[in-house]
Amino acid sequence: AKFDNVLVERRERVGIVTFNRPKALNALNSGLIQDICSAAEAFEGDPEVGAIVLTGSDRAFAAGADIKEMASLTFSEAYGENRFKEFARLTSIRKPIIAAVNGYALGGGCELAMMCDIILAGEKAMFGQPEITLGVIPGWGGTQRLIRAVGKSKAMEMVLTGNQIDAHQAEREGLVARVYPAEELVDQAVAIAAKIGSMSLPVALMAKEATNAAYEGTLAEGCRLERRMFHSCFALDDQKEGMAAFAEKRAPKWTHK
Ligand code: HXC
Repeated sequence: AKFDNVLVERRERVGIVTFNRPKALNALNSGLIQDICSAAEAFEGDPEVGAIVLTGSDRAFAAGADIKEMASLTFSEAYGENRFKEFARLTSIRKPIIAAVNGYALGGGCELAMMCDIILAGEKAMFGQPEITLGVIPGWGGTQRLIRAVGKSKAMEMVLTGNQIDAHQAEREGLVARVYPAEELVDQAVAIAAKIGSMSLPVALMAKEATNAAYEGTLAEGCRLERRMFHSCFALDDQKEGMAAFAEKRAPKWTHK
């Protein structure tokens, strides 16, 4: 499929979605949001793809929701707009998604990165929730996901001041898994996605789903879900293959079944 606002590419088992609204620093207008979700869904539906990478440009992963598009909304328009729930399409993707962040990830851009399963950053990346400086608050999960990533005090500091943090601080605080030189970032993200993509796909989906349960529910519910999913791994050919390969000291050959 062809999209106006993103570039899509597949490298072996990795689907790459590159945001492509450079003049607006990838500000997330309706068209870009739709294209990100549709491109991710296309990779979700492609059995040859095991993991997805979302990335932007050197200057910006995404500088936030499109302020110009939002500026004149009334309450009833904001409340009624589908745009604000569009990202539910992205958060229901079951394949692992890596955000590779160079440059700005601000407001909705930071929230979009946090919707992904792993955030990797280039050295010059900047993260922030500047909504308060515009007279609004985060609306795509920023107040919820940031606190889970960095804890209350640091999340509050970012949400209440709008101050940005750089890539190294974001890594120290646990928002970002790893920092790379900017020019290596996308290749490193693709390498990690390729490693994930080389695993049994149904097992990777279960690993993501079970890990997300920790994020979304209670410890007891999460452990119960994890245990049930662990049990159900034994219904897969790939579990038999994985454990046989270990015993035979060879690499497993997954059939993704
Ligand atoms: C619309 C944007 C934009 C945005 C940048 N641009 N961010 N347009 N929405 N969020 C546009 C600029 O207007 C400008 O267009 C062009 O991109 C280049 O930006 P500059 O400001 O000239 O670049 P620079 O001086 O390098 O500053 C970069 C920046 C700054 C620090 C990232 O652009 C900035 O502060 N942007 C806004 C960041 C922000 O507040 N994001 C949160 C949005 S609210 P022209 O036409 O002038 O060249 C949000 C809510 C999410 O995300 C929740 C929704 C439900």
